[in-house]
Amino acid sequence: MKKLYIKTFGCQMNVYDSARMRDALLALGYQETEEPDEADILLINTCHIREKASEKLYSEIGRLAAFKTARQARGQETLIIVAGCVVQADGSELLHRAPAVDIAVGPQNYHLLPELITKRLRLKSRQIVADFPAESKFDFLPETKAGSASCFLAIQEGCDNFCSYCVVPYTRGCEYSRPAADILAEARQLVRTGAKEIMLLGQNVNAWHGEGAADLGELIRRLCDIEGLQRLRYTTSYPSKMTDSIISVHALEKVMPYIHLPIQAGSNAILKAMNRQYTVAEYEDIVARFREVRPDMAISSDFIVGFPGETDADFEQTLALVERVKYASSFSFKFSARPGTPASLMKNQIPEKVKTERLMRLQELLMCQQRAFNDQTVGKELDVLLIEEGKKKGQLLGYTPYLQGTHVSSDKARLGDIVRVKITGSSATSLSGEVI
Ligand code: 5AD
Ligand code: SF4
Repeated sequence: MKKLYIKTFGCQMNVYDSARMRDALLALGYQETEEPDEADILLINTCHIREKASEKLYSEIGRLAAFKTARQARGQETLIIVAGCVVQADGSELLHRAPAVDIAVGPQNYHLLPELITKRLRLKSRQIVADFPAESKFDFLPETKAGSASCFLAIQEGCDNFCSYCVVPYTRGCEYSRPAADILAEARQLVRTGAKEIMLLGQNVNAWHGEGAADLGELIRRLCDIEGLQRLRYTTSYPSKMTDSIISVHALEKVMPYIHLPIQAGSNAILKAMNRQYTVAEYEDIVARFREVRPDMAISSDFIVGFPGETDADFEQTLALVERVKYASSFSFKFSARPGTPASLMKNQIPEKVKTERLMRLQELLMCQQRAFNDQTVGKELDVLLIEEGKKKGQLLGYTPYLQGTHVSSDKARLGDIVRVKITGSSATSLSGEVI
C-alpha cells in the first residue's frame, strides 16, 4: 500500500483542509504514516500570514527533500506536494525556489489533487494550480469522517475586509459561504462517525450568509437539533459583523460560552490605519452584550503590536483595553510587513526592538489574565470532553466549555466521553482534575 505523510502549518482552516486532502488521498488507496522515510507522498500544507510562518516552509521542504532523495536512490518514487497559502502567494516562484517540489496546489484547488498526481506520475511535468475556480472544491471532495470527538467544519472561506496588514484576502480569495444543507449534511456525517463537538470555521465566520438560513445564528440553531452533537463552537469572528441573532445562541446549552473576537489593537487611530471597521467602544459594547447573555462568557482575542505609526500612547491604550476586558486566552504577534499589503508600504515602520518590548509587556499581562481565569475554576465542577491521550500514562486530555485544556486521570473515562471533573489544579496554560 502506498503511504502519505502530511505536515500542517498555520491556522485551524489549514488543519481542516489537511483532513480533507487526507480523505481525498485515502480514497485513492493511500495510507497515512507519521514516518516521512516510508512515504510515497510528502504533503506540506503552508501558512503565509507572517514572514516567519512563510519561511518555515522552505526549511521544511529541505528536510523532506532529503527523504525524497534517499528513497529515490532506493528506486522508490516519491512526490513532494506543497499546498496552502504560500502557493497562492508565491505561485511559480515556489517551484523555481524549491526544485524538489513536484506539485504545488492553492487552497481553492484541493479537489484537483488526484488529477495532479496522475499527471505528475504519467507526464513527469511539475504541476502547479493556484486559481480561484468558478466551482467550489467542497462539491468535489469526498465525505469527511470524524478524526476525533472534536472536529472542524469549514462553513465559510475567504475575506472581503482587506485589513491593511493582512494577506488572507489575496491568498484565500473573496468571501464564500457554503449552503446550509451541505453544512448540515457534513455535520451529521461527522456526528455519525464519532464527533461530539464541532468547531465551525471561517476567516469571517460570523459573516456567514449561505443559502438556506438567514445567518450564522439560524444555522447554529439548526445544527443544535442534530442528535448526538453535544457542543458547538465557531471561529474566527469579525467584531462589527456580530449580531444579536448570533449572540443570543449562546443561551443554548450546546453552544459553548467562549468567543474568539480579535480586536488587534486598543487605539482607535491604529484600528483606523488597520482598516478595521469598528471602534474600541463598539468592541467593548459587543463584549458586554455577550456577557449579558452568558455572564461566564470566556473572551479571547488576537493582537498585533508595532503596527506602523503605533505610538507609546497607542500601545498603552491596548494594555488598558486588555485590563478592562479581562481575556481568558489570547494570541499576540509582532506586526510583520507582508508583500502586497498596504501596511507594508506605510511610513513610520516600528523598530524591531520596540516591537519586541511591546510584545513582551502585552504577553505578560495576557498571561496573567489567562492564569487568573484558570485559577478561578479550581474547586469547580466542569464538563470536560476528552479528545486525546495525555503525556502521562493513564491520563487523558480534554477541554472545558471555556476551552481550557484539562488533564484528567481516571481508569473509567474513555476518549470521546464528556465527563464531570472536579478541577484540582491550574497553571497559565492548563487545568488538572478528577472525574467525579
Ligand atoms: N503581522 C502580524 N500579525 C498578523 N496577523 C495577520 N496578519 C498579520 C501581520 N501581517 C494576525 C492577526 C490575525 C491573526 C490570524 O494573525 O492578529 O487575527
Ligand atoms: Fe485578515 Fe482582516 Fe480578513 Fe481577518 S478580517 S482574514 S485579519 S483581512
